[in-house]
Amino acid sequence: MFDKNTIARLQSLETPFYYYHLDVLRKTLEACKAASSKHGFHVHYAMKANFNPLVLDIIREYGFGADCVSGNEVKAAIAHGFGKENIVFAGVGKSDKEINLALDEDIFCFNAESVQELHVIDELAKAKNKVAKIAIRINPNVDAHTHHFITTGLDENKFGINTWQLPEVATALRNCANLQFLGIHFHIGSQITDMEVYKNLCTRINEIQDWFEDRGFTIKVLNTGGGLGIDYQNPDTNSISDFESYFKVFKQFLNVKPGQEVHFELGRALVGQSASLISRVLYVKNGQKKNFLVLDAGMTELIRPMLYQAYHLIENLSRKSESKDSQSYKYDVVGPICESTDCFQKDVDLPESFRGDLIAVRTAGAYGEVMASSYNLRDRVASIYSEE
Ligand code: LLP
Repeated sequence: MFDKNTIARLQSLETPFYYYHLDVLRKTLEACKAASSKHGFHVHYAMKANFNPLVLDIIREYGFGADCVSGNEVKAAIAHGFGKENIVFAGVGKSDKEINLALDEDIFCFNAESVQELHVIDELAKAKNKVAKIAIRINPNVDAHTHHFITTGLDENKFGINTWQLPEVATALRNCANLQFLGIHFHIGSQITDMEVYKNLCTRINEIQDWFEDRGFTIKVLNTGGGLGIDYQNPDTNSISDFESYFKVFKQFLNVKPGQEVHFELGRALVGQSASLISRVLYVKNGQKKNFLVLDAGMTELIRPMLYQAYHLIENLSRKSESKDSQSYKYDVVGPICESTDCFQKDVDLPESFRGDLIAVRTAGAYGEVMASSYNLRDRVASIYSEE
């Protein structure tokens, strides 16, 4: 992805910036589309992972729906041409304003996260003389075996409705005349690489759908959420997630009844490998105990390492052509922000590095640019696109 010519071209550009590999994005979308269509599955793109306008336009071209978590995401999805009938709206704290906006736009479905929210949507829909379509986000208490900061499907998490509350949900659904029950929704966490976890999720979904059907509810939509992980260690050799195996688990283990639709909400797996953060070494600080590479990018551009102890492969592009056998040095690769946690990674093995060297922080397409901030009154990070 970073050949000699590309690196020479990047060298002359002002850093830091996100560098989008659009070819990787397209190939990933194609792979996901092919693997999901084979089983008739519907994929909604979880916009929170990356709402860069060009990225959204490309994703929409492939016919995916949109999974939104704010009124502004709903607006952006519509502005970028996602069909309203393919927009779902999730989130544990939807405001009245956001619910009203989604009602006005007649989106496909609200994924409701509490019994109180059901009543609020019902009241707001009634005031507009509308019927809101609803899926219930249920907490299946399945352990995602991922980092605890990005686990969402356990009883102790704030998301979703716990199964012991389902009788209350059933009563609410029966009493709320302005709600139309479509189905059930789950999302157990992010960066999940163990397919056994999804198998366990299927088992729980099957049990929960039986519970609803035993009480006379018809389930039209089974929404299994997202969470499929990507390979942060090997972005060049393994840039596309194994969508085949992922969808196959659901095909095999989910009890899909005639007429039911199966929905997915993938974010990271669709966009993660499609961007790198490109930065420059500002200073090399050789200390007694540690050597530091101080970059011109930090937690304001990519906060994942600082917030979730997330691993991103770091490469010195300017020294890429140097022999693999040349001596390597250990550096703590840090940013310029006035916070001790502003460190991308400690003790990174890199060739001897110098002021002005270009550094790539790989696999930064998901939850990268969108989580950037202007803390320390920094400039907003730029984006550059390449067809490679
Ligand atoms: N559906 C729901 C309801 C979600 O909450 C999420 C992500 C997704 C789908 C998409 O999950 P994905 O396929 O991207 O794993 N900022 C964190 C990740 C937070 C995920 C939030 N929810 C990170 O950088 O690791």
